Amino acid sequence: MSIKKVTKAVFPVAGMGTRFLPATKSVPKEILSLVDRPLVQYAIDEAREAGIEEFIFVTSRGKSALEDYFDVSPTLEASLKASGKDDLLKILNSTNMDDGKIAYVRQHRALGLGHAVWCARRLIGDEPFAVMLPDDVITGDTPCLKQMVEAYEQTGGNIVAAMEVPVEATKSYGILDVSEDMGNMVRVKGMVEKPKSNPPSNLAVIGRYILTPSVLDTLDKKETGAGGEIQLTDAIAKEITTSNNVFGFRFRGERYDCGSKAGFLQATVAFGLARDDLKDEFSQFLNDIVAARKAAQ
Ligand code: UTP
Repeated sequence: MSIKKVTKAVFPVAGMGTRFLPATKSVPKEILSLVDRPLVQYAIDEAREAGIEEFIFVTSRGKSALEDYFDVSPTLEASLKASGKDDLLKILNSTNMDDGKIAYVRQHRALGLGHAVWCARRLIGDEPFAVMLPDDVITGDTPCLKQMVEAYEQTGGNIVAAMEVPVEATKSYGILDVSEDMGNMVRVKGMVEKPKSNPPSNLAVIGRYILTPSVLDTLDKKETGAGGEIQLTDAIAKEITTSNNVFGFRFRGERYDCGSKAGFLQATVAFGLARDDLKDEFSQFLNDIVAARKAAQ
């Protein structure tokens, strides 16, 4: 059986981002920036490096800043050109998207992540697709989605990115029940969304997926799960019973949960320290502030 290439990625960004209120009253969470790049830019860059050619955003009311972000900005470009700011022009141009490669579909009501993905079904069609949550930012030598695409080309099926979390954190994630551990990959025999007790493992699903189109058929049924939402995890779990082809993928890299305030701050520090133009001044500041806090204790 030949395995179809993954060329489409869905970015569900229709959530309300309540953990970042009041900022998200007018600014989409995905536009919040680590140093100077919006979260969504990191996701787009990662997708491009994985060979994605079509970018499908599931948006909602109040997300127009996100659509504007991907537009070309002729006035700004002309001004940078006229003032000879070629380095800034290069940065600006690197964010441009090719015509027709990006599509937006609305989720009219926030009924859950599974429902958001279902809203993109007509644009996805009958082929495997990636799902990326931009608030999970992942660093590493090889971009996470690229690692997953490479794994997918070997196995086919449905692949979810997974990482070990402390047992007390399992109630915040979709958790995998593993039938076979093959190292990087695990075969999954069950998935539980946000287990309140007795998690089947401490292997948690994070915001990168490669899915087969049959997941959309399950989502068609609009069954609700944890929190009364239409859960993507539940639709993927259904694939286990029908085709036993669900895998967890232990990616190599560091994941920052930028959907939470603490995770966003941690990512800001890590990305600031990784920048050649900032690291000296920033690390000096961090050392000083930590020393001052210790002295005050
Ligand atoms: P979250 O659970 O982080 O929710 O959604 P949220 O609304 O973004 O943020 P909080 O919890 O209120 O602070 C995970 C991902 O699923 C998308 C979100 O946009 C985010 O990328 N999502 C969630 C949707 O697109 N639609 C939904 O109905 C729910």
